Order: sequence, then C-alpha cells, then structure tokens
Amino acid sequence: MREKILVLDFGGQYNQLIARRVRDLCVYAEIKSFKTPIAEIKEQNYKGIIFTGGPNSVYDPKSPSYDPEILNLGVPVLGICYGAQLMAHLAGGKVNANAGASEYGKIELHKKGGLLLKGFPENSVCWMSHRDYIENVPHGFEVTAVTADCPCAAMENREKRLFAVQFHPEVNHTEYGTEIFKSFLFDVCGCKGDWIMSDFVEESIKNYREMLGDKKVLCALSGGVDSSVCAALMSKAIGKNLTCIFVDHGLMRKNEGDMVEKEFASAFDFNLIRVNCESRFLSKLSGVSDPERKRKIIGEEFIRVFEEESKKLGRMDYLMQGTIYPDVIESGTGDAAVIKSHHNVGGLPENVDFDGIIEPLRNLFKDEVRKVGLELGVPEFLVYRQPFPGPGLAVRCLGEITNDKLEILRNADAIFREEIAAAGLDKSINQYFAVITDTKSVGVMGDSRTYDHLIALRAVTTDDFMTCDWAKIPFEVLAKASSRITNEVKGVNRVVYDITQKPPATVEWE
Ligand code: XMP
Repeated sequence: MREKILVLDFGGQYNQLIARRVRDLCVYAEIKSFKTPIAEIKEQNYKGIIFTGGPNSVYDPKSPSYDPEILNLGVPVLGICYGAQLMAHLAGGKVNANAGASEYGKIELHKKGGLLLKGFPENSVCWMSHRDYIENVPHGFEVTAVTADCPCAAMENREKRLFAVQFHPEVNHTEYGTEIFKSFLFDVCGCKGDWIMSDFVEESIKNYREMLGDKKVLCALSGGVDSSVCAALMSKAIGKNLTCIFVDHGLMRKNEGDMVEKEFASAFDFNLIRVNCESRFLSKLSGVSDPERKRKIIGEEFIRVFEEESKKLGRMDYLMQGTIYPDVIESGTGDAAVIKSHHNVGGLPENVDFDGIIEPLRNLFKDEVRKVGLELGVPEFLVYRQPFPGPGLAVRCLGEITNDKLEILRNADAIFREEIAAAGLDKSINQYFAVITDTKSVGVMGDSRTYDHLIALRAVTTDDFMTCDWAKIPFEVLAKASSRITNEVKGVNRVVYDITQKPPATVEWE
C-alpha cells in the first residue's frame, strides 16, 4: 500500500504549501478538512498527520478543533502554528491568548534540542505569524526551541511521536524548514519517499477510466500548459470519449494556433475541434480601446462560441477544466479589489447542461503540472510554455485592435522570443513578450523621416506572478532584439524596454 501523509486542514493560508513540501520529498500527501471523522482517518493508515495553521485562537468556541483521541492513535502528528497550539490544548497544555508580543515575519529561532530540529543549527531564521502562544507544554513534552518573545517555538513528546512548531516550516523564509519535514517524514514516520508523478498519472488515469465508463467529457483547449496536460491525461483515460474544443480567437502569437492543433492531432487520441473565429472576435472588438471592455468582450464571446460548438456535439456528461491550485487561491473568498477581469479559457458556459465538472489538476502546483505533462509525453514547447493570458494579444495591443497592429506585434514578439531563446534565457525568465503601444513617434530611416509604431518589450522574473521584477537582460541581447525588430518589422521605428516591477505595474500592459 502506498505510504501517505494526511494534512489536516484547520483553515490556514499555507495548507497547500505544506502538502507540496511533503510531495517534494516524494511522499504523497492529501489534504482533508478538520471536519473529517476520526473513523475515516483511522481507516486510511496514514504514516503521519500534519495539523495546519489557521486564523483562530484555540479558546474561541467557533474555532476548528478535533477529537483529542487523534493524539492517541499511535500515528505521529506534527502541529504547525495554530496546529501546534491545538496540539498543546488537546494534550492538556496551556495556550496564552492574551499575548503582549505577537510575532510576524522573520524571527530568530534558538534551538534547544530535539529530534525534529536535528538538522537545525543553534540559531537560525524562521517565519512566524501568531498572536497566541504555548505557555505551558503538556505533560510528557519538552520545549525544543524558543525565540526572544516565544517561550515555546517548538515542542515534542518523542515517546508518543507528537511534535509541534509555532513557526511555519513550509514557507521559504524559514531557513531550515525542509529539515523539519525530512525529520518528520523519514525519521519519525519512517516513510520511504518513493512517490513520483508517474504514480499520480497512473492512478488518475485508472480512476477516471473507472469513474467515467462510457461517459463523454468536453474540454476547452487553449494550448496553455494546464488545459494541454488535462487533455493529455484524459485522452489516456477515455480516448475518443473526450472532445476538446479549441476556440482560436485569432489573438494567438505567431503560428501558435497551427502548432497547437498539429501537436495534439499527432500525439493524442481524442476528438479535437478547432474553431477559427478571428473575424468574429475582431469585429466585436472593433473600435474598442478600453482594456476592461476588451477583456469582457473576449471572455463573453469565448463562452458563446464554446456553447454554440458544444451544442452541435449532442449530450456531453462532464465539462473538464484545467483549474490548478493557484487559480483556486486567486479566486478565493477574499474581497480583494478587481485589478483585471481575468479570463481563463475553460470558463463555465451557462447554457450547457453537464452532470458535473472535472478538474484533474485542482490540487497541483504549476511545476507539478509540468512534471505530469512530461510523464504523459506532452511536447516540451507546450509543457514549458510561458503563461499566456486568456484574452491573448488583445491585452498587448494597446488602444484599438487592428489587423495591421496585430501583425506587427506578432512579428516583433516572435523576434524577441527568438533572441531570448538564442541567449539561453528562456527558462530563467518567467515571461517575456512584446507590446504594441498606441504611440507613434518620429524616426529616420535612410534619408527619410518616418512616423511609426513604438514597440515595448517586457520580461519578468517571479515565483508566483503576484509580484515580479523586471528581468536584467544583458544589453547585447536587448540591442540585438531591438535592431532586428526595427530592421525586420515594417512599421516599427522605435523599441523600448519596460523596467517596472509589479507592483506598481502589472505584467501585462492591459
Ligand atoms: P498581471 O498582468 O495581472 O498578470 O500582472 C499576472 C499573470 O497573469 C497572466 N494573465 C492572465 N492569465 N487570463 C489568464 O489566464 C487572463 O485574463 C490574464 N490576464 C493576465 C499574465 O500573463 C501574467 O502571467
């Protein structure tokens, strides 16, 4: 039986990150709500359980808790942040909810000993985010680390194999965070660490085959990494019972639509329908220069086309979407201001009736999705494709969108991408593209005056696209791209490089 770890979710913001850290060490982790009955947990033979953080105080009657019996199952438990306090509380220790000194951010940690922290030096930096703290550890526990303000930053009861840390080992800011997971998984739980992505792939294929039988699945394929990997996975499970609709809105990069169609048609066995509707989208966008209106028009039109095409296919049982975990976080429950109306290909059509939605990649991070793609034989250019916004080049063609401007943009963008790849920078820069601005400027070519378009080049480095830095591309690479663009692309006489971070700018210009 495959070894697995339970991440028991008490509502913290880093829960998926915990599962990811565990999976990075090749141990399968699954996340379940704190509402999961203890009987269900017992049945699963977990090698270990991790209590996550959470926003609450253990003394708040509404805060999530758990049957204290979970600490007596003989299964090792690691409590993190709120999970640590909960462990202390359930085991009879004392949590102080009136702390004078809360700790947020990077804090110096002093190790006192213990098995869990064996890979830690005496002093290191950890990431804290708490107000309450453990004042008295429960009977049988020892304090294994402290900070200046926190008398119990880590504790353990080795005999009962219960461990807890007040800080967050799962975030990168905790210098030796991975060591905690290594000790817990391998030394405490006795895991072997033999889980690999091919297991996820094989298991998903088997499960979908059993679950779906003869049912039919419909998917919107954009050529992006997520929808491509989804389609590849499902095609292995149900073959021709999968139909993918590729709505080509005509706002793709140079030759992109043809490439996507060709690769899928040759490598995978499912029904692929490409709908070429460039003129339909361009006529809807005609005369529109407001960025939000462009986005809305494209999003809505996309759904209309998708609905029309799917109706022609007869009854489809399920709709598949390439949702991945970061989409789940971003579209979360917060009241964050809308900066841009994001449009993800695969948005839900309203007038088509399905039994349900399938999201095979919902619990995976982007790099895990890429590994799955490679396992499935998805071509590398699709697996490592940089993010491309749903509204496509429309948000890189400032002001009114015309065929001429799109043509200039495609050619300039292709040159920039070629030069980045030729310089070997294509994997280290996370996103790079050209923008055609709404500005024209005066130049001189030969002996004549020109009055032509201004192209901006944008390249960013980032971990998560929430914040980004502009890429420090060597000048000679920029120089080559600039001179090729002005020489080879008719209608361009000036090229600039965008040196703004996000924030205050965003990655896309619109
Ligand atoms: P911004 O411009 O908001 O972009 O800093 C952050 C990341 O999101 C991509 N992006 C989109 N992706 N649908 C998408 O699927 C969209 O409507 C969309 N708009 C922006 C952008 O390319 C960058 O990677």
